[in-house]
Amino acid sequence: MTALITGAGGGLGRAIAMAMADRGAVVVATDIDLDRARETARLVEEAGGRAHAVAVDVTDPASAAAAVQAAVAAAGPLTALVNNAAIYATIRRAPFDEITVDEWDRVMAVNLRGPWVMAVAARDALQDGGRIVNISSATVYSGSAQWAHYVASKAGVIGLTRVLAREFGPRGITVNAVAPGFTLTEASYGLIEDADSYGVARSALHRSAQPEDIVGAVLYLAGPDSGYITGQTLVVDGGRQFI
Ligand SMILES: NC(=O)c1ccc[n+]([C@@H]2O[C@H](COP(=O)([O-])OP(=O)(O)OC[C@H]3O[C@@H](n4cnc5c(N)ncnc54)[C@H](OP(=O)(O)O)[C@@H]3O)[C@@H](O)[C@H]2O)c1
Repeated sequence: MTALITGAGGGLGRAIAMAMADRGAVVVATDIDLDRARETARLVEEAGGRAHAVAVDVTDPASAAAAVQAAVAAAGPLTALVNNAAIYATIRRAPFDEITVDEWDRVMAVNLRGPWVMAVAARDALQDGGRIVNISSATVYSGSAQWAHYVASKAGVIGLTRVLAREFGPRGITVNAVAPGFTLTEASYGLIEDADSYGVARSALHRSAQPEDIVGAVLYLAGPDSGYITGQTLVVDGGRQFI
């Protein structure tokens, strides 16, 4: 398996990269910050896996095309694309009528245009029978206040996932989304006060999520055992909401 992961310079993307490499995948860790992608590749290799680091700005079709080309040159045709990059750590939360147009567009460009741009760029590089996994968010179902731009972008990801499932389907390529609940990444600690206890009481499992709690769903949807599942969204939130 060869997997290209966006936003793999830290947080959930890095955890996905580590887990996929652990299962034998050649990982192409991409991020807008090449140094952070290189650090992920270094950690993968230190753990005995195979990885390459490539820079990409997922909002930019030329950058996406160049990244996919570099990935194929380094690692061969892709079996999986994981669209994980997003404006999350640096989002400016605000009531819906105080979000600026610039901030709205910045979030949409990365979170919604990004997965589409990457799917277009990876179309020919993805092997038939391959996988696309898009990272959405459980906030789509909770409708979290002061996140209108973020929640709308992540709802868009679910719609995009369904359309891509139909359009890639004839090639045996599945397209699914994972919607994580609040997860203790570095970004989350920067965004939410009392992150360690946030939402715990509402969770059926009565504990917070670590990035490693989310990766299992990604591995499954990116792997060989999910070949008849497509266009779906898997909520991974410790049972905070039942969809
Ligand atoms: N953590 C949670 O509670 C949670 C819950 C639900 C869903 N999610 C989703 O899970 C994913 C990972 O979240 P996380 O917590 O790991 O946050 P994160 O650390 O902010 O991860 C996002 C990554 O995307 C990168 N990125 C931003 N703009 C980019 C661009 N234009 N092109 C390429 N890469 C870009 C960021 O790079 P820089 O940092 O260098 O800008 C960062 O490495 C995101 O899609 C997020 O929306 C997270």
